[in-house]
Formats: sequence, C-alpha cells, structure tokens
Amino acid sequence: MPMGTFQKPSVERGASTLAGRYYVSDDVFREECERIFYRTWVCVGRADRIGTPGDYFLAEVAGESLIVLRDPSGAARAFYNVCRHRGARLCTQQAGRFGHTIQCPYHAWTYALDGRLLAARNMQDVERFVCSEYPLQSVAVAEWEGFVFLNLAPEPEPFAEAFAPLMGRFAAWELSILREAKRVEYHVRANWKQIVENFSECYHCPLVHPALDRLSPSTSGCNDLREGPFLGGFMELRQAGGSLTLSGSTSRPALGGVSGVDRDRVYYYSIFPSMLLSPHADFVMVHLLRPISAGETGVECFWLFDPATMADPGFDASDAVEFWDMTNREDWHVCELAQLGVQSRSYRPGPYSHAEGLLHAFDHEYLKRMGAGG
Ligand code: FES
Ligand SMILES: [Fe+2]
Repeated sequence: MPMGTFQKPSVERGASTLAGRYYVSDDVFREECERIFYRTWVCVGRADRIGTPGDYFLAEVAGESLIVLRDPSGAARAFYNVCRHRGARLCTQQAGRFGHTIQCPYHAWTYALDGRLLAARNMQDVERFVCSEYPLQSVAVAEWEGFVFLNLAPEPEPFAEAFAPLMGRFAAWELSILREAKRVEYHVRANWKQIVENFSECYHCPLVHPALDRLSPSTSGCNDLREGPFLGGFMELRQAGGSLTLSGSTSRPALGGVSGVDRDRVYYYSIFPSMLLSPHADFVMVHLLRPISAGETGVECFWLFDPATMADPGFDASDAVEFWDMTNREDWHVCELAQLGVQSRSYRPGPYSHAEGLLHAFDHEYLKRMGAGG
C-alpha cells in the first residue's frame, strides 16, 4: 500500500485520558452531534445495498433517520426521513425498493426519488401553496471504495478534500468490488469514543483476547497515520500467509492485489468519527458506530470478501466471522467496564501508556473538533 513511515506506537509525556464528562454528559453528547456527527462525512454502509434505481435503506446518523436511495439516473441520494407536511416519518422499513415515488403514510403527500414533491392531496385549494417549495430535505452523499458516506452539513467540506490522505491507499484490496458476506448488529453500553479508543490499542490484547494474541503478537503494532482524522497501521500475523480466523489460517486467496508483507499483516484504521476499517489479506472487516446516547452505541460489523471467492460452492465465511464476533464481544465487555468506571465520582484522567499513542491522537482530534467550548 502507498504508505507513510511506520513506527512503533509512542505517547508524549504526560498524556492522559479524557475527563469523565466526555463519556457521560448528555450536554457533551448533544454538542458532539452538532459539532461532529452533523458536519462530518459519516459512513452509513455499502453502496451495493442500493445497486438498482429505487433501492433504498434507512441510515441513522446520531439520532437522525435518513433515506439513502439510488435514483433513476443512477445517482445515490439521501433525504431526511421526514415529510414536509406534518413531519411524519416517511419510511419505516429498514430497506427495500421504491416504485417511482415515496408516499407519506399519513396523508399521502408523494415525492419523486429526486426529492421533488409531486402531489399533495387537496392542497390545490390552499392559497399560495406550490409543490416546488416543499421538496424532501436532502443531505450530501459521497461514494468511495464501495462505501456510502453522508454529510448533514448545509455546505459540507468536499469529500475528496476530506479524504485526500486515504485516496488510493487501499487500492490493493479492491474494496469497491468486495461484497458483504455477513453483518452483525451489536448494542454496547459504552460511549462511542470508548469503542474507537479500544480499537486503537492492543495493550489490552493479551488479557482480553487470548485467541487473537495467539495469532498476532500484541506488541507487533506499527502505525503510519498518527495524527488527524485517520489513525492506524498494522499488526503482524505469527503465521505467514495466515489470517485472523478460528484456525489462524485461511484457504481463501488474497484479495486482488494484496501481496508481499501485506499477506502477513492486518491493518487497522479508524476513520473519524465512527468508522473502523480492518483490511486483512483475504477479507475486510468494517465497524460502523452509531451513537445512541452518551452511554450507548449501536455497532454494525460486516465482513467483505471477493465476490469470485464467494461464488465458490465451498465458500464459508464463518471462520473469520466467528473469530471476530468472539473478539468483538470481548471488546464490548471491556468498553462497558470502562464506561461504568468513568461514571464514578472518583474517576480522574489516567496516564496513557506508549501503546496508546493513537488514543491520545484521537482525543486531540476530537477536542479540536469540539472547539474550546467542548
Ligand atoms: S405528514 Fe406526510 S402527508 Fe401529512
Ligand atoms: Fe480488543
């Protein structure tokens, strides 16, 4: 992969964890929604979920429901799932296919798939009412490497600028053609930042993940993205050409152009604020975090494979899925323990170890986005 210089993790002197209020306060949570989730590009899923015009799925960005769809011209679009009449939620089914229109279940106002209001029953008699003034409220959409991102800001930073450091970086994995073999939803009783922070270190691995530790040494981590919104690097596999599966090996060929040292590594990147991307040689795991409240987070985890490999009658993703499902649950457990502790009146920020340099970098980026008022 085109990459920077990899270095062993380290942390500056005196670096410590965030104050407790960042994990428990409802006020901080509301401020995070405004300053981070409603003005940053947020990944909401795979583009192949809307492969055909009319296909849609519902996304949730920090409590806002959005309809993500493919319009007849082939463009991805997203709208607030809110009727322009009296605000009813338009769509409640998580995914499906629209005909040519979206009709509100309350009074049947009817919208085109580009958001225009086409018909509003009996409204022709209402003075000065014109349909063209009531389109669905749209939000910005970008597609990158087969992922759909939304940005709820009225004037979002162009996606290509925001994601410039990642452009071309994962070319060898051919992410855009990969297909989802399995998706699991988790509910974690921890703040979303606990989950990002936990993902960003392997200090905990020997205790929390004995199976992972047997396959990948906890001290093998090296990072190339060490500041800003994208953070991470790789860890090594003990078994050359192996993978993070129940057996530690894999019969699947490496993805696309993955070769050389990349066959013996697993990469882990956090993509601010809420996407965790883990390219393995033979599959890619993705976590999307959906903050529900200060103390609760939904996590969608999915596993992507090469469609040619998936077409093999013997294809079976369970070795990878079961390994990571177990490891995920181990992680959620310690995130929940940390959440319980930071709620305590006795909690004070603790010192970071050298293995936790990325957490300090994440906290720094987070505080910057929150502004002085955070
Ligand atoms: S609220 Fe949608 S048509 Fe009335
Ligand atoms: Fe972990």
